[in-house]
Amino acid sequence: MRYVPLDTPKPISKIGLGTWQFGSREWGYGPDYEQRAAQIVRRALDLGVTLFDTAEIYGFGRSERILGAALGDDRAKVVVASKIFPVLPLAPVVQQRAVASAARLGVAGIDLYQVHQPNPVVADTTTMRGMRTLQDVGLVGEVGVSNYGLRRWRFAEAALGRRVLSNQVRYSMVDRGPEKDLIPYAEQAGRIVIAYSPLGQGFLSGRYDARNPPAGAVRRANPYFLPENLERGTELIATLREVADAHDATPSQIALAYLLRHPNVVAIPGASGVEQVERNAAAAEIDLADDEHAALVTAAHAFRPVTGLAAVPKLIRARTRK
Ligand SMILES: NC(=O)c1ccc[n+]([C@@H]2O[C@H](COP(=O)([O-])OP(=O)(O)OC[C@H]3O[C@@H](n4cnc5c(N)ncnc54)[C@H](OP(=O)(O)O)[C@@H]3O)[C@@H](O)[C@H]2O)c1
Repeated sequence: MRYVPLDTPKPISKIGLGTWQFGSREWGYGPDYEQRAAQIVRRALDLGVTLFDTAEIYGFGRSERILGAALGDDRAKVVVASKIFPVLPLAPVVQQRAVASAARLGVAGIDLYQVHQPNPVVADTTTMRGMRTLQDVGLVGEVGVSNYGLRRWRFAEAALGRRVLSNQVRYSMVDRGPEKDLIPYAEQAGRIVIAYSPLGQGFLSGRYDARNPPAGAVRRANPYFLPENLERGTELIATLREVADAHDATPSQIALAYLLRHPNVVAIPGASGVEQVERNAAAAEIDLADDEHAALVTAAHAFRPVTGLAAVPKLIRARTRK
């Protein structure tokens, strides 16, 4: 495992573990998954993963509970990251919700407490006042945000009066927006971009095609899994496979290695089984050559999915077919 080259109280692994899947029926993993989830956490720990990401909204608290129980006594050794879902993130609400999350996780302090998304009405001034108090009393280590643009991330830092260590955003070979300004800022200021959906929710694994789309409500709502987009992704997957073959690796591992080239980026793939967490952790060790990276950039550029409004009627049709 490799770790972020930054001064943090505990090392932060370049590959973390995302746990939205835990306790969330909408991923469609069935009743056995809770037991597998615990095995995934234990295996991740063995492999040197130190960043475990959850949120109060995942499974309405179930993800936090499953993660906390699976970590057991190792909770204090790793970076436990959770998020407040900011319906009304006024300072006292932030404080009360952090206490509830810590209780579900079974931790004395949340190492990284993130605002899940920007609230369009409530300013970060009050939210960050709550965060500052939580840091002062030791219930929160580092503060993070999620789905923030650069301007608002920096505003949040000014409001906190301290670093907002990380911004967790969608970042993968099919969603490269953060490369424009968030990653350059993180590198210049000593911050971290946490890449969520780093495998495009499994799109980049190459496991799925138009005849074999994934199950579950989450991915039925994801336009990348429309038959048309799976078809359009063929070239990109072929390039991933080609690079993967040269490294004795899988397309998913190469998709992760592409992100991890940036020193201040960590990825938090979710996993449906123990073998995936093993492969994902191993991806931290893959060094892509410049020509391989260039080929991946070209292939990613050439992928033009149908998204936004144009995808909506197709998604509705795909949904009603199930
Ligand atoms: N802050 C936010 O707003 C936000 C939003 C979304 C997610 N997140 C966080 O980010 C985490 C990851 O994002 P995500 O779960 O949306 O997407 P992801 O990590 O891109 O995709 C996860 C899925 O990809 C498949 N997969 C994982 N490893 C694989 C491997 N080695 N080979 C083949 N397939 C593999 C698995 O599904 P199958 O095996 O079923 O194909 C797994 O459930 C979440 O768990 C959550 O913690 C945060």
